[in-house]
Amino acid sequence: MEILFLKVLLLGASLTGLFYSLVDFCFYGYRGLEKPNFVIILADDMGWGDLGANWAETKDTPQLDKMASEGMRFVDFHAPASTCSPSRASLLTGRLGVRNGVTHNFAISSVGGLPLNETTLAQVLQETGYITGMIGKWHLGHHGPYQPNFRGFSYYFGIPYSHDMGCSDTPGYNHPPCPACPPAAAPLQSSPRKNCYSDVGLPLYENFNIVEQPVNLTSLTEKFAEKALQFIQQASDSGQPFFLYLALTHMHVPLTVTHQSADLKGQRVYRESLQEMDNLVGRIKNKVDSTVKANTFLWFTGDNGPWSQKCELSGNAGPFTGLWQTNRGGSSTKQTTWEGGHRVPAIAYWPNKVPANVTSTALLSVLDIFPTVVSLAKASLPPRRHFDGLDVSDILFGDSQNGHRVLFHPNSGAAGSYGALQTIRLGQYKAFYITGGAKACDGSLGPEQHHKLPLIFNLQEDPAECVPLDSSSAIYQEMLPKITEVLVDILQDISGDNTSVADYSHDPSVIPCCSTLKIACRCQLM
Ligand SMILES: *[C@@H]1O[C@H](CO)[C@@H](O)[C@H](O)[C@H]1NC(C)=O
Ligand SMILES: *[C@@H]1O[C@H](CO)[C@@H](O)[C@H](O)[C@H]1NC(C)=O
Ligand SMILES: *[C@@H]1O[C@H](CO)[C@@H](O)[C@H](O)[C@H]1NC(C)=O
Ligand SMILES: *[C@@H]1O[C@H](CO)[C@@H](O)[C@H](O)[C@H]1NC(C)=O
Repeated sequence: MEILFLKVLLLGASLTGLFYSLVDFCFYGYRGLEKPNFVIILADDMGWGDLGANWAETKDTPQLDKMASEGMRFVDFHAPASTCSPSRASLLTGRLGVRNGVTHNFAISSVGGLPLNETTLAQVLQETGYITGMIGKWHLGHHGPYQPNFRGFSYYFGIPYSHDMGCSDTPGYNHPPCPACPPAAAPLQSSPRKNCYSDVGLPLYENFNIVEQPVNLTSLTEKFAEKALQFIQQASDSGQPFFLYLALTHMHVPLTVTHQSADLKGQRVYRESLQEMDNLVGRIKNKVDSTVKANTFLWFTGDNGPWSQKCELSGNAGPFTGLWQTNRGGSSTKQTTWEGGHRVPAIAYWPNKVPANVTSTALLSVLDIFPTVVSLAKASLPPRRHFDGLDVSDILFGDSQNGHRVLFHPNSGAAGSYGALQTIRLGQYKAFYITGGAKACDGSLGPEQHHKLPLIFNLQEDPAECVPLDSSSAIYQEMLPKITEVLVDILQDISGDNTSVADYSHDPSVIPCCSTLKIACRCQLM
């Protein structure tokens, strides 16, 4: 019954898409076909310094560096949160977690997902005639109506959550190393090893079907590449505009490398994996160049900073080392609101539209993707809601340098409560009301501290966030009232539109499993 209902919904959605394409065609003739295509590639846990164009020490990203020299590179570009699900929810809604309800990660037994009354970018584009595809890691709910095919994507190929949230027979490199899935005959492990989900195989979906479980992590990158290239080819052949959201599993642990050499260890593993990702992005770009180059906007960025807890299997934050925090213990990257947690690599590529070889210092965010893409597609923003992102097409086309004046960095789990105000950016200044580190490689965890008088850093002079301004200094006295004012404004705006609530309840029966025997959910179908 539920399935039938969902199918009717899905049919309704595609009919609506068809209707709008027809309307488009009748009213605008061929102009409707000139809508640009969009390819958004989202890296996972990639450090700002993992992009060679950002950080000269890094030599592993020749394809991305080339893309930067042919497009626009953003050096002050921020993830909307410092962890997976909230960052992705904000990308697809243009709204912060305190509004869209997604303030922390979903688990394998989560019943809910991105609240259904939130409208995704894919839904908006689908309704205006786009073919929409999601390939890679979803992590916005996998049960029932939260699945990507119900959130605006006509095609989905990928994994429902992070690839360390389920076992594999090819476990890859992780800290601590995780065991392979138990054999089919073994009983379900009752207490999975600490930090390893070792009892249920990671599933791979194509639309509503599990096509492989446990996933073979060694061949996953190649499958994503094949499906992405196929999607671009087929969408381009159809003559309809398309939107591809490719959410890579790189650089999140476990790391796997296709061309395994015997002596791989430590940093080598990370670098090989980074090269593998770079190569994959290069293949997607080449495909775009050879099929739909003139009219395709490619946007590469990341979901949050590196996961320092994973030691040499984690990325490089470049100069954004968060020293004030690391001097007190804990890490200052993923899960934190230190720069290393949310300042991410970002490149916009669109030949003859976005100027080539330009570095932009505008303060921008992944939140801007939604309003910008909607505007470029000549669609309308969903009514009656507030957006935290801006339409930044003027900046992309080289006509403006003005990004955000203010950016709000919500808590992402290291200290304080999920989604809550922690840090606010105003121009080159950044104020912390709560500090705290995430778990570091050495196991330390920086203590949570509340600052009645916020710590204010001048990022221009102190990108490492090492020494806050002296609270008796003239500049502190000048900035504090300005920061307080924008803070009050934002909080008021948020309280006027913060009603969506995600269901974070758990039910073991929603854990994806293709086998009725449920022993490690082992059923090779591919
Ligand atoms: C996983 O995929 C790789 C690459 O295609 C292959 O060589 C290997 O045999 C596969 N492993 C398993 C356990 O299926
Ligand atoms: C890009 O700009 C840099 C410095 O501004 C210059 O050295 C380089 O040659 C340029 N690259 C291309 C491909 O134009
Ligand atoms: C929305 O904002 C109001 C006012 O700040 C607050 O009391 C309420 O708890 C918020 N609601 C949610 C769901 O966060
Ligand atoms: C979303 O759903 C919640 C709970 O059902 C409701 O309170 C809220 O008003 C809805 N928000 C929007 C934007 O429709």
